[in-house]
Amino acid sequence: PAGRNYLIGGNWKCNQTTESALELVSVLNAAGPIPTNCEVVVGIPYPYLALVASKLRSDIQIASQDCAHSAKMGAFTGEVNVNQLKDVGCTWVILGHSERRSGFGGDSGESSNLIAGKCVTAVAAGLKVMLCVGETLEERESGDTIKVVKSQLDPAIKALQPADWENVAIAYEPVWAIGTGKTATPEMAQETHAEIRAYVASALGRDVASKIRIQYGGSMKAANAKALLAQPDIDGGLIGGASLKPEFADVWRGML
Ligand code: G3P
Repeated sequence: PAGRNYLIGGNWKCNQTTESALELVSVLNAAGPIPTNCEVVVGIPYPYLALVASKLRSDIQIASQDCAHSAKMGAFTGEVNVNQLKDVGCTWVILGHSERRSGFGGDSGESSNLIAGKCVTAVAAGLKVMLCVGETLEERESGDTIKVVKSQLDPAIKALQPADWENVAIAYEPVWAIGTGKTATPEMAQETHAEIRAYVASALGRDVASKIRIQYGGSMKAANAKALLAQPDIDGGLIGGASLKPEFADVWRGML
């Protein structure tokens, strides 16, 4: 809306095998035209990135779901760097997903500072970023939603140059709506998106705020996407569960 193209992201998370990934790729390849005002990106697990990049239609872009803090090759066991990601066909990276922030029940979740550093590394390498933020149910119920989101954005606002934000989208994913089937109502999501845009305007200026895309994530699917995407400050989605199914294509078909 307001001159911004929709950004429809899928996030496969830790799902798929070679077989199921290829099956979904053929469904997406046959799913018909993508509207000119929509950009579509899918977040693929590392082992299938190169495969999916080689088989998926070229008008759907490929994202990784994380990247190393450093762009360097070297002794970083278990890490994958931005240059390797570009090498296998990624143009985007999802950073700061709440599942990475929470550490999967362990105690080593990613901090907003680490995530901001990764944003700098990714943008410097020419990758685009979907930067995820969002509050827990407890934080929402205590009225802290925007305070939490600001604190998640602030390190990135400090670390990135204002021009870098041309290559960053913010994915607002309320934690309580992720994988739960509970979606924020379009009005609820719009309210927070508008607050995020206002905060970006105050921190980075009106120009950055008017251009930045703010995606909604949290049990988005074909059946609720249209109403969410009709809101003035909702510029796309980041879709988990429903991106594993043929219905992912119905999200952009609904925008035709
Ligand atoms: O990144 C997407 C996400 O966390 C939402 O997941 O399964 O609720 O659509 P889901």
